[in-house]
Amino acid sequence: MSGKYISELVKSVPPSGIRKFFDLVLEMEDVISLGVGEPDFVTPWHIREACIYSLEKGSTSYTSNNGLLELRELLSKYISSEYDTVYAPDNELLVTTGVSEAADLAFRAIINPGDEVIIPEPCYVSYIPAVVFACGKPVPVPTYQEDDFRVTSEQIEESITAKTKAVVLSYPNNPTGAIMGRKDLEDIADVVNEHDLMVISDEVYDRLTYNGTHTCFASLPGMRDRTILLNGFSKSHAMTGLRVGYAAGSDEIIGAMTKIHQYTMLCAPITAQIGAIEALKNGDGEMKKMVREYDRRRRLVVGGLNKMGLDCFEPKGAFYAFPSIKSTGLTSDEFASRLLKEQKVAVVPGEVFGECGAGYLRCSYATSREELIEALARIETFIDSI
Ligand SMILES: Cc1ncc(COP(=O)(O)O)c(C=O)c1O
Repeated sequence: MSGKYISELVKSVPPSGIRKFFDLVLEMEDVISLGVGEPDFVTPWHIREACIYSLEKGSTSYTSNNGLLELRELLSKYISSEYDTVYAPDNELLVTTGVSEAADLAFRAIINPGDEVIIPEPCYVSYIPAVVFACGKPVPVPTYQEDDFRVTSEQIEESITAKTKAVVLSYPNNPTGAIMGRKDLEDIADVVNEHDLMVISDEVYDRLTYNGTHTCFASLPGMRDRTILLNGFSKSHAMTGLRVGYAAGSDEIIGAMTKIHQYTMLCAPITAQIGAIEALKNGDGEMKKMVREYDRRRRLVVGGLNKMGLDCFEPKGAFYAFPSIKSTGLTSDEFASRLLKEQKVAVVPGEVFGECGAGYLRCSYATSREELIEALARIETFIDSI
């Protein structure tokens, strides 16, 4: 096919760099993958059991567009007890098909053609395409290891133009593992207020922090109605395949997002929503166990990478290490391609997450300790052979 039927907008966006790499991995045997951004744990049994039981009882219908009321009530309680921020279950919470859908709805709900959205990089690969698909203009802002991969309020302020509509914040961060302190976020809140901007805050890793607590951006004074808070169950409860997330925000914003959602998605899958209810009611114990295990692996991987001479920032959240490979003289793409071919370890080149990710690799430690130990040994062999 010539592609003549495909819209120019869609053609303008390249396919995901992660997927491209993983198509290669699928063709090979005995590969240890530190590539995918998903827990290696299966969904805890009590959550699966709740899903199975609901299917046995015949719960296979649509739900209301904004999600099961019980789930929205539990979400409201969770956010208010964890972050002291209150959202009404009726009109300020929307249950979505993962954070992915929530992010897409958020951009589509607020962007007029040509509006600019500031996006700190390196970042999750979906934001830029989602802004483009919403006819907006992404404005990437690089973050650096010397700043602990935090975006500063000054950087945001410098990127603001008359067309700026919103800022994306995504902490704990994929791929760096960076987090933002309360003071960093307060400084950004001042800029956002002064320039009358919205914030889309993707906090899908809020439960996966290792040093200290997470600050929810919406909980800062004056920020609740300027923020579209996105979160979900994929990472915290190992529920990636169930596809359930949510957005919280003002009545006006959630109303606009619900309008798009009701015409394009109808509702998130009922089985997943029932699993999410069980996760919120009884999932804390299993979640904390998983976080403790990620923390052990984090120390293993970061320690191992630093020991072999790859300078690795200490991730404070999520489940990724982001070592610099600049000392090897290879580009991230060369390093990742050769490591895969020669030692059968899959990692993701840092520039997939933004230009400033060049010279880094993303290594997910959501993989068993045995595999991580073997992967580290293979990476060391590879480095010795360069
Ligand atoms: C920062 C971030 N947001 C959102 C997602 C996607 O979440 P979901 O599975 O809820 O769509 C990911 C997945 O890797 C992520 O890293």
